[in-house]
Amino acid sequence: MSTAVSAAATDTAAGPLRRHDHYIGGEHVPPADGQYLPSVNPTTGKAWYETARGTAADVDRAVTAATRAFTDPSWRRVSQTRRGALLRRVGELIGENAEELAHTESTDNGKLLREMRAQLAALPEYFHYYGGLADKIHGETIPANSVEILNYTLREPVGVVGAITPWNSPLLLTTAKLAPALACGNTMVIKPSEYTSASMLALAPLFEEAGFPPGVVNVVTGYGPEAGAPLVDDPRVEKLSFTGSTATGSWISERAGRRLVRAGLELGGKSPQIIFADADVESAANGVIAGIFAAAGQTCIAGSRVLAHRSIYDELVARVVERAGTIRIGDPLDPATELGPLATPAQLAKVEEYVAAGRAEGGTVAYGGGRPDTGLGGFFHQPTVFTELGNDTRVCREEIFGPVVAVISFDDDAEAIRIANNTSYGLAAGIWTKDLSRAHRTAAALDAGTVWVNMYRAMSPMSPRSGFKTSGLGVEHGTEVVHEYTRLKSVWVNTSDEPAGDPFVMRS
Ligand code: NAI
Ligand code: MG
Repeated sequence: MSTAVSAAATDTAAGPLRRHDHYIGGEHVPPADGQYLPSVNPTTGKAWYETARGTAADVDRAVTAATRAFTDPSWRRVSQTRRGALLRRVGELIGENAEELAHTESTDNGKLLREMRAQLAALPEYFHYYGGLADKIHGETIPANSVEILNYTLREPVGVVGAITPWNSPLLLTTAKLAPALACGNTMVIKPSEYTSASMLALAPLFEEAGFPPGVVNVVTGYGPEAGAPLVDDPRVEKLSFTGSTATGSWISERAGRRLVRAGLELGGKSPQIIFADADVESAANGVIAGIFAAAGQTCIAGSRVLAHRSIYDELVARVVERAGTIRIGDPLDPATELGPLATPAQLAKVEEYVAAGRAEGGTVAYGGGRPDTGLGGFFHQPTVFTELGNDTRVCREEIFGPVVAVISFDDDAEAIRIANNTSYGLAAGIWTKDLSRAHRTAAALDAGTVWVNMYRAMSPMSPRSGFKTSGLGVEHGTEVVHEYTRLKSVWVNTSDEPAGDPFVMRS
């Protein structure tokens, strides 16, 4: 894997920063206008490589490569079973390169190495799952109310898919698009986040190594408006798939609407975790910690609003605060670390702004609320717990994308559900109770695409994920996603041996 960024190539290495080019048509292609942008290691706050600063000319080149690859017999005529085998091979190659990929992403976005290792262990499953699905994608025959008509449907690939992805989990979130899109026979142009291009650039060549023809998977790096927008607007891109902020997702959807192509959106959240009076409070407290402090809160599914029944409120807050106080903050590459940095200085500033807003709106900081002293120079923020904040405050309404949780009390089930659903988002929710009926009743009442009961943050390629309300459009994961990456054609065949009659002559 010659193109991967090795963990040694950090900012401590002497000499100029390593440069990464676009990956187009199976080749490393320098940016058309020669510009590069630095990517920062959030643990140290220093740049550790430069990546191509793509523009419309680079996107044009990548879409041309993907368009050509889509119609080329070397891909178009590959059998569905063979497609599946290629995907499974990618899964194996990821396994072989897991450590290097994990280091690369940890260094680039500050995610814990141990979490990345777990993610890399799960990533091949996506390629195995969609590899298995590849030759089970087919249409159906439809009676069409006549024995003399054969009507059948074909599920065809849509063509070139444009994927735009964020910095919080580049490999995982891009895989959720890549594996099904390729299983369906499409080709792809991927625009990773300007903050974290390295892991995707390391992954892309593995597709050719596995046997995919060049041009099936392409990567153009750069800023959203410069390298993402031309991809959104390119008339040859037949389908868009985006993960990121609701604001950018809404903009992309609007642009896609102008040229009438589909845009799948996986967006933000303000997910509630409801802790009922009968819950195992220790277990729930651990679920709260995992829900908000994993990845320093930089996950779309962060459980950032905790609704605790009044009778267990104090106990829950005490447990969460106690554990927050012992969380080991530091270098994400150190396996003992439990909380790494925010991925960017902008993200740290944003978290601080929300903490200030929470204080100004009358919140009490039960723990945290500032920058820890790590001595590392990066973008660290303490795990932070707010009490005394109403659901109508900014901290409870807006996605912070950081390690900040607000704990709100409720008195009965109806109130809990009302507060939980009183948000513009609808991505995920957690329920903590020992009462089985209450669990199912509450799950049914919540406006959330994913509901976890007595657990949080579980994910599988087999289980569909969708965002309700402003949390998204369309589905990822599971078999359902095939509909997102195929177009449906209906074919009508007249099987009667009668000649077609004159349409203006009434037959008796
Ligand atoms: P973003 O949503 O703007 O960026 C995601 C991707 O979209 C990146 O690849 C970016 O380059 C691209 N992009 C941005 N503008 C674009 C445009 N006009 N056309 C095409 N592509 C474009 O998120 P960003 O700026 O990285 O973070 C801002 C905030 O978004 C964060 O503070 C966080 O709250 C939220 N966010 C939420 C995520 C989630 O999974 N829910 C993921 C990332 C960010
Ligand atoms: Mg970076």
